[in-house]
Amino acid sequence: MVIRGEKVVLRPMTVDEIPIFYNWATQSDATHFWYEDGRVPAYEEFTRDWERHYFDGSEPEKGRCFVILVNDRPIGEVNYNDINREDNSVELDIIIAKDVDTRRGYGTDALKTLVKHLFQHLHIQLCWIEPVAKNARAVRAYEKAGFKTTKTFIANGVECNHMELRNA
Ligand SMILES: CC(C)(COP(=O)(O)OP(=O)(O)OC[C@H]1O[C@@H](n2cnc3c(N)ncnc32)[C@H](O)[C@@H]1OP(=O)(O)O)[C@@H](O)C(=O)NCCC(=O)NCCS
Repeated sequence: MVIRGEKVVLRPMTVDEIPIFYNWATQSDATHFWYEDGRVPAYEEFTRDWERHYFDGSEPEKGRCFVILVNDRPIGEVNYNDINREDNSVELDIIIAKDVDTRRGYGTDALKTLVKHLFQHLHIQLCWIEPVAKNARAVRAYEKAGFKTTKTFIANGVECNHMELRNA
């Protein structure tokens, strides 16, 4: 099963691809955006946080990772996390590994595509995402995907935006 966007295709990530995802997160052009404080996790810690259900689809209510593909080439990852069924809300994350693949509209399209899928097939009403405020490229991409900043907050001394997109 793949999910088709305008520029990208999302394919569920498999358990075999966890090491690739780990590399994207910890040893790519995107690493300092994901680990702002420079504290990059060891593989064991990473796989404790990113539990198996993200990759084997065994607990869709708890989250799922997708590979972002451009012309069949994997460029990064987008995911949703634990679904809150009290208000049908869910947090999203995204990473595009190489700088050359950024600023081409792929991140915006990947988010729009995942959000549409979550609204249509998992009865989600509200998606949210929390970039570091000074990550202007991320904030801009999320705004283009339809997210709006509803508040800012400080986490570990760093200002972050809380951005939301509601099912109209
Ligand atoms: C954040 C990310 C997902 C965005 O995806 P993307 O494909 O690069 O984004 P898009 O090309 O769709 O849009 C980027 C927008 O930001 C703009 N932009 C780029 N650099 C910018 C900067 N320094 N300041 C302001 N805007 C900037 C681009 O011009 C573009 O807007 P435009 O289309 O109006 O011109 C991707 O860059 C990424 O994964 N980066 C590394 C990891 C990361 O930051 N993850 C997010 C953690 S919350």
